[in-house]
Amino acid sequence: MHMHNDSAPIYSARPLVQSDREMLERRFEALSSETRRLRFFTLKPRLRAQELDYLTNVDQANHIALVVCVLEEGDWAEIGIGRAVRLPGRPDTADLSLLIVDEYQGCGAGKFLLKQLAQLSASAGIRYFQATYLAENLAIEHIFRHFGATPAEFTQGVCEVVLDLRRLACGE
Ligand SMILES: CC(C)(COP(=O)(O)OP(=O)(O)OC[C@H]1O[C@@H](n2cnc3c(N)ncnc32)[C@H](O)[C@@H]1OP(=O)(O)O)[C@@H](O)C(=O)NCCC(=O)NCCS
Repeated sequence: MHMHNDSAPIYSARPLVQSDREMLERRFEALSSETRRLRFFTLKPRLRAQELDYLTNVDQANHIALVVCVLEEGDWAEIGIGRAVRLPGRPDTADLSLLIVDEYQGCGAGKFLLKQLAQLSASAGIRYFQATYLAENLAIEHIFRHFGATPAEFTQGVCEVVLDLRRLACGE
């Protein structure tokens, strides 16, 4: 995968489907250990079959997942995944996770993906995203603050934040 050229990258998002399993596995293998740690909070050398089942068995209602793609030489290349998993017993709130492959971090894909995921989730009746992230993860904190959220709790290097999707929809 190549870094984008001088012009601004063009992104699109589409729902994740079961046949994305191989793509997901391949992309995971190519991630840096730092990116894996920031996403999963452990070194996580590989995804087990049950984990791949869970990550690809989405219903787009209680478990919403979007693949973000970038236009590269006329083709859409998958560069990240965003997920919103509704909390059991709290249908207005979903747990949020985002992942952009190393080569495309810091180019706006994360913000784009979060906005798309928020729109889709809001239309499914979700009102809040709850996210847990490592305190050292300044990029994600920057994005959350950009959309009006304030880290709500702080325990042993782990932060929690709640995003109001109605506010997020207004963000630029
Ligand atoms: C966190 C992540 C999803 C963000 O996606 P991204 O495409 O890299 O982010 P964007 O380019 O859209 O935005 C990053 C913003 O953070 C800012 N940022 C990046 N590094 C930063 C730092 N060290 N300190 C402060 N701000 C920082 C950027 O300037 C940018 O803000 P701007 O648009 O106002 O300039 C992505 O980097 C990633 O997948 N990281 C590894 C996994 C992870 O951390 N997942 C989140 C936990 S679930």
